[in-house]
Amino acid sequence: MLSVSSLYRSIQTELGAWYDAYHRPLPWRQAVSAYHVLLSEVILQQTRVEQGMGYYHRFIEAFPSVEDLAQASEDEVLLLWQGLGYYSRGRNLRRAAQIIVSDYGGELPRTPEELSRLPGVGPYTRGAILSFAYDLPYPTVDGNVYRVLSRLFALSDPIDTPAGQRVYWALAEALLDRQHPSRHNQGLIELGALVCLPRRPRCGECPVGDYCEARRQGVQEQLPIKQGRTRVLPRYMNYFLVRIEGEGGTRCLIRRRQGRDIWHGLYEYPLIESGEEPLSVEVLSETKDFAQLIACLRSPRFHPVPLATHAHRLSHRQIYASLFLIECAGLTSTPDYQVIAEEEQSSYAFPVLIQRLLDKIR
Ligand code: ADE
Repeated sequence: MLSVSSLYRSIQTELGAWYDAYHRPLPWRQAVSAYHVLLSEVILQQTRVEQGMGYYHRFIEAFPSVEDLAQASEDEVLLLWQGLGYYSRGRNLRRAAQIIVSDYGGELPRTPEELSRLPGVGPYTRGAILSFAYDLPYPTVDGNVYRVLSRLFALSDPIDTPAGQRVYWALAEALLDRQHPSRHNQGLIELGALVCLPRRPRCGECPVGDYCEARRQGVQEQLPIKQGRTRVLPRYMNYFLVRIEGEGGTRCLIRRRQGRDIWHGLYEYPLIESGEEPLSVEVLSETKDFAQLIACLRSPRFHPVPLATHAHRLSHRQIYASLFLIECAGLTSTPDYQVIAEEEQSSYAFPVLIQRLLDKIR
């Protein structure tokens, strides 16, 4: 087993050597002024490298220096920006150039705090300028880097939530090659662009494939995880353990689940689904099925405090299950359920949800 620090060192070494040998000679990698990095990264947030190159050349030709961009009219900038969409980015670029000229004498600042003051410069662009242009030891994480890190370390933290993103930035910081921050950060981006592709990654060509946990587990195509924008709806499942006391021992009621959902064909206790709200007296009294069931029971006693509750997360649902107890002295008529001995329950397949509830009362 490699220690974490020697694992990181090995990754840095292999990645750096690979970058030196295989990186694309992209125009903004040739003349590395901070202005060129700013320009290229703002453009590349809007478009792919192939298309971005044309825009980059046209901008550099029209505005060779940050002073030229600062003096341009907004119309001139937007005309060149045309086709990239999201025009506020073009406007921000010009305003950033004006601040760089007025407050920093035309040279992009070298601290994260100062860079963050520039319009349109977020954490990614800031890290790109500090590391690519000034070779300062700051991490930077774009879509490529999220993908590479999530696979290399088989991380299931979502890349589209603030909490998940903090994990990746912290990891990028820990993994950073502080001797060669520019080469290292660009290496991660390049690896994501050329090898660690979103679909069908070229793991056979990967310089750090030997260290890749996702590859070892065979899950590289399932990563990274996005939580997505789907709203997770609550679903309240209220189960009733109807305990029937009798001479032959305690019995209970179960029924095979109807309907074609994930629990289709499994057995369950009498159930009231109270939609997106917890069970209330109103729901109880309005549920016809439940009233019919109660009518079959002799001297039923309903316990309003659940015996157990359990929360269960599915992809689009947060399920809140409760198990309520109803005790009774027998049956006055045959309910629409199977009556089984309590100890027989283990011969029936229940949803895991119900098993968890039962685990909690045992
Ligand atoms: N995508 C975003 N920034 C990039 C860069 N500097 N090089 C290659 N691809 C990129």
